[in-house]
Order: sequence, then structure tokens, then C-alpha cells
Amino acid sequence: MQYRFLNSPLSIGSLELKNRTVMTSMTMMYCEEGPDGGYVNDQLLNFYVERAKGGVALIIAGGVATDRYVGYGKMMRLDDDRYLPGMKRLAEGVHAQGAKLCLQFLQTGRYGNAGAVYGDSDTLCASAVPSSFSPDVPREMTQEEIRTVIENAAGAAGRARAAGADAIELCANSGYMIAQFLSGVTNKRTDAYGGSFENRCRFGLEMIRAVREAVGADYPLILRVAGNHFIPK
Ligand SMILES: Cc1cc2nc3c(=O)[nH]c(=O)nc-3n(C[C@H](O)[C@H](O)[C@H](O)COP(=O)(O)O)c2cc1C
Repeated sequence: MQYRFLNSPLSIGSLELKNRTVMTSMTMMYCEEGPDGGYVNDQLLNFYVERAKGGVALIIAGGVATDRYVGYGKMMRLDDDRYLPGMKRLAEGVHAQGAKLCLQFLQTGRYGNAGAVYGDSDTLCASAVPSSFSPDVPREMTQEEIRTVIENAAGAAGRARAAGADAIELCANSGYMIAQFLSGVTNKRTDAYGGSFENRCRFGLEMIRAVREAVGADYPLILRVAGNHFIPK
């Protein structure tokens, strides 16, 4: 095939890609649901291995729940070491086809329901602004909960690297939790995490810093940001 640049290798920091094609994250909901679910299973592994066989250079797999209570029930999870063997299998399976693996960390916030389903937590959001995606009315997160969500993302980041994933993407797009803090539509807070643009960026920036610290300076970290959420103000 022609397309000289599309088919030529590319380095992003320490990450070397065989060409310039990327498969974006799609939450497939293939995992078992429930507090003890979230493992990479054969269906999920085969889905990504088949895509890797197609020749894509980088597969962004996910979303991955970094907290069992800020996700959807059937997402992959990395909030505990017990998920490491499955994630290693996924990395090895994708690598065997010559592709690299990036894991997308996704905190659903008001779009999710796992916490409420498991009885662990209310549905959490920057502020108590409901969404048509979930029947739950979310509760505004306390600063303690903000810290916990960030710490859990950092913990999952260490596991992603240990499992052999080549990069991490943080989902700040599509109206999920980081975006819920960024937008004045869903962030009505009056503390240091709301109000000015700088304050609305604080949650995402703190998560980036915590994840960066967990994986080290040389590890590729991607931030997916939406240009427009098409939600009326
Ligand atoms: C079933 C499905 C699940 C998706 N899940 C995610 C997700 O978890 N995270 C994300 O950032 N985007 C997600 N997306 C958006 C895709 O990454 C992509 O942006 C979208 O499909 C548009 O790409 P396309 O124009 O190539 O179809 C999802 C899309 C689909 C169809």
C-alpha cells in the first residue's frame, strides 16, 4: 500500500510504533459484572488480538476502571493486584501481533452506576448534576473522595506499567469525570475544584501528576480531551 507516512514508524517519547494508526478506546462491557468482576477474559483478549492482527500500531484498550465505584459494572478493572495476570495476558497477546498496548483509564462519574449497584458508594460527580445516561442523581464529591479517586488512578497506573502496557491514556473526553470537573455545566463547586478555569482544571491536573509520579518520567501518558461536548450551557 502507498501512504508513505501512514505506514512509516513513529516514536512518541520512549514508545516506538510500527506505523501511525491507532485504535481508539471502546468500552466493550465484556467483563463479568459485580464486585468480583472486571477481569480480562477470553472474549476481551480475543477481541483485541484480532484487531492487532489487522496491523494497527497502537491499541488503546479500555476504559479501565481505576475504582470499582466510579465505573460501569462490566469494565476491566485495575484497582487490585489480582487483575495483573489478566492484564499481562492482554499485553502479551497484543505484543505477539506486533502492536503496542495503551490502557485508557476512565472514571465515569455521573454517567456510571457501579457504586450504586454494588452498594459501595453513591454515584459521584463534580457536582450533583444528573445525566440522562444514568437513572442515578449523583452526589457532589467530597475533597476526601477526590483524593481517593486520584490515589486509586495512581495505583492502577503502577499496575498498568507492571502488566506490560506500553502507555496510559486518561479519559478527559466524552463528558466523563475529568470532563465533568472541566465543564461549568457539571461543576458548580465553590471550593478549590470549581469556579475559575484554573480551579476546574485542578482535578485533572492532580490526576495527571499522580499518575506521572507512579509511572516515571519516561512512560508515555496520553490525555484524550474533547474539543466540544455539544451540551448546551
Ligand atoms: C461501543 C463504543 C464504546 C466507546 N467507548 C469509548 C471509551 O470507553 N472511551 C473513549 O474515549 N471513547 C469511546 N468511544 C468512542 C471511540 O473511541 C471513537 O471516538 C468513536 O467511535 C468515533 O470514532 P470513529 O469516527 O472512528 O467511529 C466508544 C465508541 C463506541 C462505538
